[in-house]
Amino acid sequence: MKIYDFDTPINRKNTQCIKWDQSFESTADTQYPLWVADMDFACCDAIVEALKKRVEQQIYGYNTGFDAQYRQVVCDWFARRFDWKINPSDIFYAGGVVPAIAYLIEILSVEGDGIVIQTPVYYPFRKKIEATKRKVVENPLQNENGYYTMNFEELDHLLGRDDVKGMILCSPHNPIGRVWKQEELSMVLKLIKKHRKWIISDEIHGDLIRHHHRQLPLAKLGADMCDQIITCTAPSKSFNLAGLQNSNIIISNKEYQQRWKKYVLQRLSLSGPNSFALSATMAAYTQGEEWLNQLNAYLDTTIVEVTSYLKKQLPKAIVSPCEGTYLLWVDVRGYCKDQERLEKAMLQAGLILDEGYLFGIAGSGFERINVACPRAFLMEAMERFVAVVKSLDIDSNKRNRYDYGVC
Ligand SMILES: Cc1ncc(COP(=O)(O)O)c(C=O)c1O
Repeated sequence: MKIYDFDTPINRKNTQCIKWDQSFESTADTQYPLWVADMDFACCDAIVEALKKRVEQQIYGYNTGFDAQYRQVVCDWFARRFDWKINPSDIFYAGGVVPAIAYLIEILSVEGDGIVIQTPVYYPFRKKIEATKRKVVENPLQNENGYYTMNFEELDHLLGRDDVKGMILCSPHNPIGRVWKQEELSMVLKLIKKHRKWIISDEIHGDLIRHHHRQLPLAKLGADMCDQIITCTAPSKSFNLAGLQNSNIIISNKEYQQRWKKYVLQRLSLSGPNSFALSATMAAYTQGEEWLNQLNAYLDTTIVEVTSYLKKQLPKAIVSPCEGTYLLWVDVRGYCKDQERLEKAMLQAGLILDEGYLFGIAGSGFERINVACPRAFLMEAMERFVAVVKSLDIDSNKRNRYDYGVC
């Protein structure tokens, strides 16, 4: 069995890569881009080989899109990995999960309708709802010492409102790292059914599950009511293919399928992915399993190490248990409550992180750290992170180069 290497750094600078090539207001000698959710690891070799083969064919004309073979490969992946049976004709193409969510909002609601999101949450959910002139209806998650749960009583009330048409679930949840338990998902389904609303389940991180946790596709659990569930899946997070822009959207409801075809296929003319995305997705889902398993094992170790390091070094910080994704959610309010000051200090130290407030007001004073990079580099970044946070300590009277005044 091949052992994959996740430790050797790969230079991504000057490759038009957003994570490393976007410039930030930081003059630090070394930059640690640990923000946008992609990984600094070499792609699975089977994908690289498939792409090379496609390039060497030398002709890049129109492709057949999601043909029968492609659909079968996607169905086999979800059947094998999750024991979830998908009907091949229920798979629809979008050039990403975020665009898919925007299209779904367009076809499932009208201007002014309310859509529930569970904050703090991946910020494009809010942005897409606002951009399509719908109303954001927040069902904030409950944070108990870093462990987040859903407020079902409030969700029941919100879904019962006439102006609320549906909700967007993040499963696993970015940024707080929960992999929802069967009881929790069953409760969500019960409320969706009770109030006859739709639910978009964004399962893009569904392959990135930490040891001892199990991802349960919502549509598998709610097979008897799959008419109300739309699932967004993609190989992009799991196999680091975001730049190839492909996603598989699972829609079982015949009426919704017609609406999708009318809007996405006919009106927007978005029929299928480019040829490279097709080759890469098929290689990932047929030959990428071992690579993915080793990646998850590597991330498990990284997360254990970083979590224990941060807990030891920053006893007043709270690291949420990361059950899924490769994103750590760290509450540093025990050291500094001033978000602006925190952000400036991180940038000044070359730490490019996703600031918690981006995910909703409850994220203010938190940092989201993308740990999908070689461990040695990450630990170097974490040493700097600890130094910055300590320097901002509200209990400390010391002032130093990270200090910007009010806190
Ligand atoms: C929950 C979630 N959904 C969607 C996306 C982005 O999906 P895409 O690149 O396919 O639009 C991300 C990326 O971080 C994400 O975390």
